[in-house]
Amino acid sequence: MTASLPNSALGRAFSAAQARYEDTRATSHARLEQARAVMPGGNTRSSLWSGPFPLCIASGEGCRLTDVDGHSFVDFLGEFTAGIFGHSSPLLAQAVAEAHAKGISLSSHSEAEIGLAERLVARFPSMELLRFCNSGTEANLMAVALAKAVTGRGRIVVFDGGYHGGLMSFGGGGSPVNAPHDWLVLPYNDISALEAAFEGGTEIAALVVEPMLGAGGCIPATRAFLEAARRLTAEAGAVLIFDEVQTARMALGGMQDRLGITPDLTVIGKFFGGGLAFGAFGGRRDLMARFDPAQPGALPHAGTFNNNTLTMSAGIAACDHLLTGEALEALFDRGEAFRTALSELFTRHAAPYRISGLGSIMNIHGVSPQPERAEMLRRLLQFEMLEAGYYFAARGLIALSLPLGQEETQGFLAAAEAFLLRHRDMLTEEA
Ligand SMILES: Cc1ncc(COP(=O)(O)O)c(C=O)c1O
Repeated sequence: MTASLPNSALGRAFSAAQARYEDTRATSHARLEQARAVMPGGNTRSSLWSGPFPLCIASGEGCRLTDVDGHSFVDFLGEFTAGIFGHSSPLLAQAVAEAHAKGISLSSHSEAEIGLAERLVARFPSMELLRFCNSGTEANLMAVALAKAVTGRGRIVVFDGGYHGGLMSFGGGGSPVNAPHDWLVLPYNDISALEAAFEGGTEIAALVVEPMLGAGGCIPATRAFLEAARRLTAEAGAVLIFDEVQTARMALGGMQDRLGITPDLTVIGKFFGGGLAFGAFGGRRDLMARFDPAQPGALPHAGTFNNNTLTMSAGIAACDHLLTGEALEALFDRGEAFRTALSELFTRHAAPYRISGLGSIMNIHGVSPQPERAEMLRRLLQFEMLEAGYYFAARGLIALSLPLGQEETQGFLAAAEAFLLRHRDMLTEEA
């Protein structure tokens, strides 16, 4: 933190907002201390950490959350995009209850897995065959392993800021716990860098790309960049993998549907299990067929819960009733309208904020040449929006859910404008 920051108007406003957060959320704080005794830092999911301590949530209903201190607020975070259904959907609850009543852990195949696979294959024409696993991380790791096996090559092209799970994370210089593949990390949306990497790129097994950097700040790929990725991988005999774990919600058949670009393999996750733990990867028949266990030399792919009937059944109900093409298009449009309105608000008030994203997924950024100030601007807004009853991620992520409607987005915009007016002098100075 720069020396002048704590004494600046921004520093004082931030400290006061953080102090109010601490004062009003003693139970969340106590829960973190309790958790520290049994989990490192009281945490079992790094992305949930934010200082001074994260919220402990007691319950959720519709698009609202209630924390253990009794505060209720609108959930604009939507479980980092996985919570597209909102909370406690009666339809999903019924699907899970019915599946449970028929018995779980059935020790063999069931019809539910066929039903969900059929629905997903129908949505994503690029997925001629697919396999289920339990998370987006696992699905990405399996897709990369398949690409290496079918090409007999080792190098995997990924992008700076890309996030494909806890073992494939390329923000801020990568991660010490990444899977030990031969990663080639390139700048995102940089066609020249891509072309240079593929010159003589006979070592490249796969290119893994998010059609929009999600955890990397909601930066959409340009169409030209994804087209270049498609062309170069095809020419080099490498496998193009679209990680659509977040962007699959952008249309019935995901971003690839919206863009008309067909990858060799697609990875999905988050919400296609109807809110339960889920991941899947699929693609060209000739590639995926390598997992056919009846064939000699088949690749193994195991997982006790890959076909668990609760996830499969909730996924079927979600596909049939909630994740319809019309619902996803409407959610996309709602997100575009909300992001545009928020962006116009920041511009109208000449405020040091901007917002990036696509459809219902977006990220608010503080704007300052000093990274500490940019972060403090973002956290100040986040703390005060929470006080006003609107929750989004400390890192600025917003992911709208299906039950979140006009009333909530209008309320958010009004609260954001009140914030901008309340801090007008300080923000004008920062801008
Ligand atoms: C684009 C993307 N890929 C993969 C993952 C990993 O999915 P999971 O958390 O289910 O392992 C995420 C999770 O946020 C993601 O956003």
